[in-house]
Amino acid sequence: MERKRVFSGVQPTGNIHLGNYLGALKQFVDLQETNDCIYCIVDMHSITVPQDPEELKKHILDVAALYLAVGLDPKKSIIFVQSEVSGHAELSWILTCNSYTGELSRMTQFKAKSKGQESAPTGLFTYPVLMAADILLYDTDIVPVGNDQKQHIELTRDIALRINHKYGDTFVVPEGRYLKEGARIMGLDDPTSKMSKSAENDMSRISLLDDPGKIKKAIMKATTDSDGVIAFDPENKPGISNLLNIYSALTEESITSIVNRFDGEGYGTFKKALVEVVTDSIAPIRERFDKIRESDELIDILKDGSRRANDIAEPVLERAKERFGLGIR
Ligand code: TYM
Repeated sequence: MERKRVFSGVQPTGNIHLGNYLGALKQFVDLQETNDCIYCIVDMHSITVPQDPEELKKHILDVAALYLAVGLDPKKSIIFVQSEVSGHAELSWILTCNSYTGELSRMTQFKAKSKGQESAPTGLFTYPVLMAADILLYDTDIVPVGNDQKQHIELTRDIALRINHKYGDTFVVPEGRYLKEGARIMGLDDPTSKMSKSAENDMSRISLLDDPGKIKKAIMKATTDSDGVIAFDPENKPGISNLLNIYSALTEESITSIVNRFDGEGYGTFKKALVEVVTDSIAPIRERFDKIRESDELIDILKDGSRRANDIAEPVLERAKERFGLGIR
């Protein structure tokens, strides 16, 4: 099969949780074997909401170390930090001039994040345009993401098609790649909203760096329903369905087979089994993380990554500037 260019990113706004891992990172690792992959730590996206500068610095390196700890290999994939490649900001401006306030107002993430504010930060509004720039800057074919990003990917395609139509072929039109199982992992405390780094309740998520005690507590406390029957029915039984989803995504056992195996058992028994599955999956990642985070190699990998990313980005940016008649050449 032909190698494809793959691009994706994660915000360094906190430690990566199971949703990020199952929705995105697990796919990143699989894809690097047979494709040309570029994985970014999107620090410029994270400042669309206020960040403590010291914390942000730490989180950038934490996410980089987690990328490596889950199995990304810098010999196979380019791993870099967004703000180290200036083309992202430059292309973002060109795309901003070719997107519309109407379409950006329809983005559900913007609506959720700006809810209740009379005036929201402009960066929060144009966030999806910067994301489109990330993707289009590398002639990306495939974008592996959780399905909460679907609307942003569709917008990226719309902008690329619009510019190609008006100015001639400029950008590769990318496709999203969403995993069915694990495409959306929900909060453990409230299975009707997605697991997120920013939710206030720490028990709502499991981070890849959580210790076994925290993992056990969060799963045993996870919200389920009162009928006590283990069945997959996301609409009527969102809590237990989410836990089944996590179990299946981590073990790669089908949901039907898990449901059959636990037939007649109570939620407590299933939750205990899930604690074991999650703990066993996360432990080796944590171990590798500790080693990598302390090594000097991490910075060298990121520097090399931004050099390689820039080499790919530069000609694409030049092509875009040329189409728009910008600059002196
Ligand atoms: P971020 O940092 O919120 O999340 C990183 C990845 O994790 C996925 N994800 C989930 N998947 C399943 N269940 C969940 N509960 C869950 N929560 C998060 C996200 O879909 C994402 O794939 N806008 C992006 C970052 C970004 C990006 C890009 C992605 C910026 N530029 C270019 C791809 C390409 C975001 O906020 O991800």
